[in-house]
Amino acid sequence: MTETHTPQAGDDHAADTDVVALLMRQHGDIRNLFDEVEQSTGDARKAAFRRLVRLLAVHETAEEEVVHPFARRNLPGGEQVVKDRLREEREAKETLAALDDMDTDDPKFLPRLIALRADVQEHARAEERYEFTHIRRSTDAARLASMAKGVKAAEAMAPTRPHPGVQSGAANMALGPVAALMDRTKDAVRKAMGHDG
Ligand SMILES: [Fe+2]
Ligand SMILES: [Fe+2]
Repeated sequence: MTETHTPQAGDDHAADTDVVALLMRQHGDIRNLFDEVEQSTGDARKAAFRRLVRLLAVHETAEEEVVHPFARRNLPGGEQVVKDRLREEREAKETLAALDDMDTDDPKFLPRLIALRADVQEHARAEERYEFTHIRRSTDAARLASMAKGVKAAEAMAPTRPHPGVQSGAANMALGPVAALMDRTKDAVRKAMGHDG
């Protein structure tokens, strides 16, 4: 590893080698996409919602593959912390799947989306507080970077912004059912981290 400097807020290059910075950025991207879906209508809402579904799916999959196993093994009380986060993620996925079956212009869509948003945000805050802070404290730059590799491989499945240097056909891939996307993401993360499932 050549990158060992301390990441700074807004330092996007640093974010690429620090799993916590990377995941915090994704939490921000998710918040912005919820805004976009809420504030748009018709085709624009449909497109924003597709991007939100995709990002949420790959983000949660990356956390399940990279962050939670680490937290379970290395943090005090990690077992219970991860159990709580996994329950929240399962509930969010169920709501997401239900929303995914709905027309985005259905009058019931927005209230359900707003309820999902509240749950997702509470979940993200719990991760930041009970996992992310401790992950930074209990590991070194090399380990943070190796975990970041896994998260970046997941993110490449759901590009929300241009990633210079990352060549991927994923950007143009049609969105399959959420579960299929999660399976593909899991494979990509495992490959990037050097264990092929
Ligand atoms: Fe999560
Ligand atoms: Fe998260």
